Amino acid sequence: MPITLKFSSGRERNTLIMTESTSKSESNSGCFYLTTPIYYVNARPHLGHAYSTIVCDAIARRKRALGIETWFLTGTDEHGQKIERSAKAAGCTPEEFATKVSGEFRGLWDRLGLTYDDFIRTTEPRHVRGVQYLFKTLCDKGYIYKGSYTGQYCVGCEEWIEGPPGTICPIHGIVTETVSEENYFFKLSAFERKLLEFYEANPEFMLPESTRREVVSFVRSGLKDVSVSRSTLSWGVPVPGDEKHVVYVWMDALANYITALGYGSDDDQKFKKFWPADIHLIGKEISRFHCVYWPAFLMAAGIPTPRSVRANGWLLFDQGKMSKSRGNIVRAETVHTVLGSDALRYFLLREIPFGQDGNFSFDALVQRYNGDLANGYGNLVSRVVNMVHKYFGGVVPEAEAGTQAEAALRTNAEAAIAAFGPAFDELNFSDALKSLWLLVAETDGYLTANAPWKKPPERSDAEHAKLQARVLGTAAAAIRVITALAYPIVPDAAAKVWAQLGLGELADAAKHGFLSELAWGGLKAGTKFGEPSPLFPRAEKEAIERMQSLEDENSRSAVESANEREIVAPTSAPAATSVVPVAAATDKNARAAGGTTPTTAAPTNPAKPVATAKVHQVPAALAGSRLSSTPVPADGDSPLVPGATQGVHGPAEAENAAVNEGPKHITIDDFAKVELRVAQILVAERVPKADKLLRLEVDLGTEKRQILAGIAEYYEPEKLIGRKIVIVSNLAPRKMRGLESNGMLLAASLEGGAPVLAGFLEDVPVGARLK
Ligand code: MSP
Repeated sequence: MPITLKFSSGRERNTLIMTESTSKSESNSGCFYLTTPIYYVNARPHLGHAYSTIVCDAIARRKRALGIETWFLTGTDEHGQKIERSAKAAGCTPEEFATKVSGEFRGLWDRLGLTYDDFIRTTEPRHVRGVQYLFKTLCDKGYIYKGSYTGQYCVGCEEWIEGPPGTICPIHGIVTETVSEENYFFKLSAFERKLLEFYEANPEFMLPESTRREVVSFVRSGLKDVSVSRSTLSWGVPVPGDEKHVVYVWMDALANYITALGYGSDDDQKFKKFWPADIHLIGKEISRFHCVYWPAFLMAAGIPTPRSVRANGWLLFDQGKMSKSRGNIVRAETVHTVLGSDALRYFLLREIPFGQDGNFSFDALVQRYNGDLANGYGNLVSRVVNMVHKYFGGVVPEAEAGTQAEAALRTNAEAAIAAFGPAFDELNFSDALKSLWLLVAETDGYLTANAPWKKPPERSDAEHAKLQARVLGTAAAAIRVITALAYPIVPDAAAKVWAQLGLGELADAAKHGFLSELAWGGLKAGTKFGEPSPLFPRAEKEAIERMQSLEDENSRSAVESANEREIVAPTSAPAATSVVPVAAATDKNARAAGGTTPTTAAPTNPAKPVATAKVHQVPAALAGSRLSSTPVPADGDSPLVPGATQGVHGPAEAENAAVNEGPKHITIDDFAKVELRVAQILVAERVPKADKLLRLEVDLGTEKRQILAGIAEYYEPEKLIGRKIVIVSNLAPRKMRGLESNGMLLAASLEGGAPVLAGFLEDVPVGARLK
C-alpha cells in the first residue's frame, strides 16, 4: 500500500507517493539531492555533456536559493574497455588517460561556474570500496550467483540473441556466435513484478512519459537475469573475493550515486542525510539502466530507491545527435568565450523544451541572445538603472501611491512569480522562462507608456518628478522580481543586476534562501544603487564567425595532433584509422550486454572468433571515415561487414594483425561485382520491437525496394523521407524480423561506429550507378 508523505519544510515541493521501501527511510526530508550522469572519459566534454550539467546546476541553484539544503553530484565514468583502448591509442595508461580527461570535464565545469558539491571519479578508492560493498551485499542477500551460459551472441550488439546456433542477428544481419562464459549474474528476473508495482505506485518516478512507456513495456516483456561481471577485462573494479572478474561497468557506474555519499564507508553521514536522490538527471538513451537495473539493484540491497529519474532529450547539431563519434560537436568553451556562460544557459533552457531533442545552431543562439538578453532584459535594466542615477542620484526615490498602471504591473509580477516556480520545478524551464520574459516585456511596455524621460510641456516639474519616482521605483521593483527568478538560469548577470539595484551580493542572498520570500516590494526607498555596468552587449555577425572559427581551429588542431600520433607510431594502420575488434564495442552497448538467463551447463565452446572492423581515432568530421554497408549497428558498435575476417583478437592482436598483413587489395573486377546505386527514401518507419531497425522503402528509378537498416537510434524516420542515399542494390535479399531486406545502405562508420549516411552535394538522379 503506498504511503503518502508530505514534506514539512513549508516550501513548494510536490507531495510524493512513496513505496514501502522508500518510506522506511527517514533520510533526506528537508534536503535535496540531484545528480548528473557520470561522463565517459573517452571523449572530451562537448555541449551535449554540458547540457545535462547546466540543467542540474540551474536546479541546484534554485533549490539553494529557496533555502533547501542541496547536494549536487557530478563526475566521470572511467572504467571499461573503451577507456582502456582510448588510453592505449593515446600511448598512456588508463589511469593517466582518465585523470587527464576527467580533469578536462572538471575544469570546464569550473570555468562555466557550475556549482557542483562533489565530483566523483569511479577510479577513486571511495568508489571502488563502495562498489565492492554493494556487490558483496547483493551476494550476501542471495541476489548474485555464479553461472555459465552458452548461447548465441551478437558482438555488434553485445547482446545475447534468442535462437539456435546459426541464428542471424536481426540488426547486423550476421551469423551470431555461440559463446560460453562463466560470470556472476544478478537475479533481475526476481524484480519484474516489484518494478512494475513500483512504477505504478510512483507515476512520477520516470519522466517524460515517452521514457516511462518505453521502460514499462521493456519490463512487461519479461526480465532475465543479467551478467554483472566480466572476466575478459581488467580495467574495472575487482569482484570482491574473485579478482579475476571485474564488476560490470554499468553496476560500477550506477553505484557512484551512493558511493559519493559514503555508502560502504565508515563515514556514511552524507548517505544518511541525502539519500534517496530526488532527481537523477540523465540522457534519454540511458533510461533503461537507471529505471530498471538501478532500482532493482537497490531494492535487492535493501536501499531506498531514488525519487525520480528525469531524461533529457538530445542536443542535435547538423541534424544529428551531437557526439564525438559523429564528429558534429560544439564545445561549451566556444560559446562561453564569445557570449558568456549565461547566454549558453539561457539558450539551452529556453530554446529546448526539457525532455525533447533540440537543435543547436550559432544563428539561433545569437538570435535568442540578442532578442531576449541584449535587447530584452539587459536593455530594460540598463534603462532603469541609468535613469535612477540620472534623475535621483542613484537612490531609489520615495513614491506616492501608485495608479492603475502600477497595480497592473504588480499583478503581472505576482502572476510571473506564481507561474515560474511550478513550471521550473516540473523542469519545464522553457515555459518558466517564457512567463518571466513576458514580465520583461510588460515592464518595458509600462516604461514606454509612462515615458519618465519625457516631460510634456503641460506637466509641472513637481508632477513630473513624482511620475518619475513612481515609474522608476515600480520598474525597478519588477526588475528585482525578474532577476531573483532568473538567477538560477543567468546567475552571472543576475548577480550584477542585484548589485546595481543596491541589494548587495546575490551569492549571499542565495545562501540565505532569498527566493523563498520573494514578493513584490522589497526594494525600499532610499536604497543606493550600484554603478551601471553592461550586461549583454549586442552580438554582431562577427560573433557567429568567431564561434565558428574557434570550432574549426579546434577540429584542426585535434586532427593535427592525431596525425602527429600517427607519425610517431609508424606501426599503426593507415592514417587516422586503427583496427580493433568489434568484440570491444563501446561501453554503452557492452553495458547493455547480459540480459540473459544463465544455465549451469559447463562451457561447451571456447569463445568463437569475432569479426573485426575499423574504427577511427581522429575527429570524425575530418577523418577519412570508412564507409560501411548497413544494417548499421547501434551507437558505438563497430560495423560488422558480412564476411569480414574471422579470428580471435584482443586489441593488441588485432592491431598487430593490421600491421603484419598490410592492406588487402581487391581487383577492379571484384569491385565491379558490387552494384552501388542512388536511391531516394520514400517511406521510413520504425520496426515494432526492434529498437535499432528502420524499415525503408526506396525508389531506385526503375523499381521500388524495401530495405531494413539498423539506424533507428540515429535518424528520425520522418527526417529521412526524400533523402537520397547510396545502396548496394545487388545484394541477395534476406529476412530480418520477418521482413525482407532488399539491399543495404551505405554509411560512414565513424569512431565508435555511429553511422552517417552517404549522400551527395550535387543533385543526382535516382537510380544512378556509382562506379
Ligand atoms: N557513463 C555513462 C553514464 C553513466 S551514469 C551512471 C554515459 N556517459 S556519456 O558520456 O556517454 O553520456 C553522459 C550523458 O551525456 C548522457 O546522459 C548523454 O545522454 C549525455 N549526452 C551526450 N551527448 C548528448 C547530446 N548530444 N545531447 C544531450 N545529451 C547528450 O552514458
